[in-house]
Amino acid sequence: MKRIVLSVLAIVSSFGIAVADEGMWLPALISQRIGDMRAKGFKLSAEDVYSVNQASLKDAVVLFGGGCTGEIVSDEGLLLTNHHCGYSFIQRHSSVEHDYLKDGFWAMDRGQELPNWGLTVSFLQRMEDVTDRVLDGFVPSMDEKQRDSVIRVNSGEITRAAMEEGKGLRASVEALYYGNQYFLFVYKVYRDVRLVGAPPSSIGKFGGDTDNWMWPRHTGDFSIFRIYADKDNEPADYSEDNVPFRPRRSFKISRAGVKEGDFTFVYGCPGSTKEYVMSEEVRYTAEISDPEKIELRTKRLDIQKKYMNSSQAVRIQYSSKNASVSNAWKKWQGEVKGLRKTKTTAAKQEFERRFGKWAEGTEYEGLVDKLGELYSERNPYFRASEYYSETVRAIEILSFASNVVSTIDRGRSVEGLAESFFKDYYQPIDEEIFVAMIEAFDQKMEDRFKPGYLKGKLSEYGSVKAWKDDLYKKTVFTDKARVAALTKDDLEALYKDPAYELHNAFMTWYAGEIRPVVDNLNAKIRLANRDYMRGQMAFEPDKAFYPDANLTLRVAYGNVKGYSPADGAYYAPVSTLKGIIEKDNPEIFDYNIPQVLRDIYAGGGYEDQPVCFIATNHTSGGNSGSPVINADGNLIGINFDRVWEGTMSDIAFDPEVCRNISLDIRYLLFVVDKVGHASYLFDEMNFAD
Ligand code: ARG
Ligand code: GLU
Repeated sequence: MKRIVLSVLAIVSSFGIAVADEGMWLPALISQRIGDMRAKGFKLSAEDVYSVNQASLKDAVVLFGGGCTGEIVSDEGLLLTNHHCGYSFIQRHSSVEHDYLKDGFWAMDRGQELPNWGLTVSFLQRMEDVTDRVLDGFVPSMDEKQRDSVIRVNSGEITRAAMEEGKGLRASVEALYYGNQYFLFVYKVYRDVRLVGAPPSSIGKFGGDTDNWMWPRHTGDFSIFRIYADKDNEPADYSEDNVPFRPRRSFKISRAGVKEGDFTFVYGCPGSTKEYVMSEEVRYTAEISDPEKIELRTKRLDIQKKYMNSSQAVRIQYSSKNASVSNAWKKWQGEVKGLRKTKTTAAKQEFERRFGKWAEGTEYEGLVDKLGELYSERNPYFRASEYYSETVRAIEILSFASNVVSTIDRGRSVEGLAESFFKDYYQPIDEEIFVAMIEAFDQKMEDRFKPGYLKGKLSEYGSVKAWKDDLYKKTVFTDKARVAALTKDDLEALYKDPAYELHNAFMTWYAGEIRPVVDNLNAKIRLANRDYMRGQMAFEPDKAFYPDANLTLRVAYGNVKGYSPADGAYYAPVSTLKGIIEKDNPEIFDYNIPQVLRDIYAGGGYEDQPVCFIATNHTSGGNSGSPVINADGNLIGINFDRVWEGTMSDIAFDPEVCRNISLDIRYLLFVVDKVGHASYLFDEMNFAD
């Protein structure tokens, strides 16, 4: 009896009632959560968190680039984010003579700060419910297409009007709750953002892909930038005349430290979650999509690693590519494990049974069954499109061929394209991946999803390997000098190049036979999900629902807390420099720390120097670089990852094991001072103590 009660409770808590610390809340509606936040220890008011009338914490948070978060820590525009968020900019400033990725970079005065073309930071000015205006003119008899066009026209007018309110504004209307609600977001976008400091990768990326998505963690994942503005403090393109930006608000830094149980609050821009989808989508993700993509990426990573391990030059060429393939690969593994452990599919099925019963006689009757049928109809096609993108589209020479052809077609020179492609291209890796990926596609796709071109080539050559040998021998796209010299006159010949031909055959098949079916069914699924979302809210009127993440600003709150990753094991919530020294190994690239760190440690006194900590905040990709704030509203850390056992929180949040990982701000201060010798930066920071 007791066991039954417990398992029902477990199901209800893993899906259903928003349990402790689950949730990414809209700042504009934070007054609905502030009572709970204060009960958990927060000392500030809703107006302190978000206000359009007065300076509030939101004014110190930015969307950094296109997919990270950053925070302002001085009255002169100093900004903190992750090392992995600044990575590509640090890389662009690096050369053999000054390798900032390897050695780190520290501007010793403002004149040494480095401009970054294309990097912007966006401050949210305000967010506003515009549902009525967006749906003005919509009538229920309209289909999805007509509804979409009403929304497009209305949103266009709303954003245009919003952007006229000031300089450098960007506005967008975003759907929340599957289009049951629409919010306007108005941002002010600054575009002169300069690099101020970054630790060596052996600190900023310490642990590499070995430790990625894992706790205990010891990564000094930060970089420092500064925002510049024109003399009126308005956004401007880079200019020597620009001056440091004066923010409405910046974070005070707390050096008081964290301990188990402390209140924490993450303010940032999570990218994408799907907490309210039905069981069939979860089942597809956990049993088909993730495992198949993991298997394919394992093959790719193994091939890359084999060559990276035998050559230093290849390791440098493929480190960034390998890291991005590896990042999702490793996350999916944690996600599958987590979804299995929390039995999310079964929990959702149980929820759907109760929902279905309640829905009898209402507009929601039969909805879940209908949704299930739509998924069953879509998923074989969706699987084909995922397989295509993880196999054929992973072959570098094919997408390069396509880029070159379309660049020439637009009348542009391909010299630069060729230069950057071949800088990081190692043909033996690509050839081996070609064979592995085409073979996998051929073996795993149902016959009806195989393009005729593929079947033709396989019967012509007898094996993928023979096809590959011939293709790489005949294609022009492996030859840098010849590619660089291509012009419009070569287009006819290029269309017949075996690499381009293969790319094009698959593209045509995908655009003609797969994508239209997937798009059409996705539109129906979207519509059904809109009803299902509304239905879930009607079914559980007392539950607090938060909208799925969509890269808009959110508040997540919780507390510093360890967890048990497995039976018999417990992880403490804080890591220290001692752990870095324990992992240190000059033989292993990911664990080879800079000598200066060894020397500092050997000098004594830094065993307990804090490095990272974990907490129960509900975060996702995009929350990288987010400020982690204490009960007094002061900065205690920078968010950069989640623990492996909890990566399923994009689909189902389990408070037992879902933890975000943050850099302890005191480690940043330590590295800036002791490694970067740039403690002059502290002069402009405001410390809470
Ligand atoms: N897992 C973190 C995120 O999702 C960090 C990724 C960068 N680090 C790496 N070792 N690949 O973005
Ligand atoms: N590293 C992730 C990012 O770049 C954050 C980790 C997560 O997904 O929670 O946004």
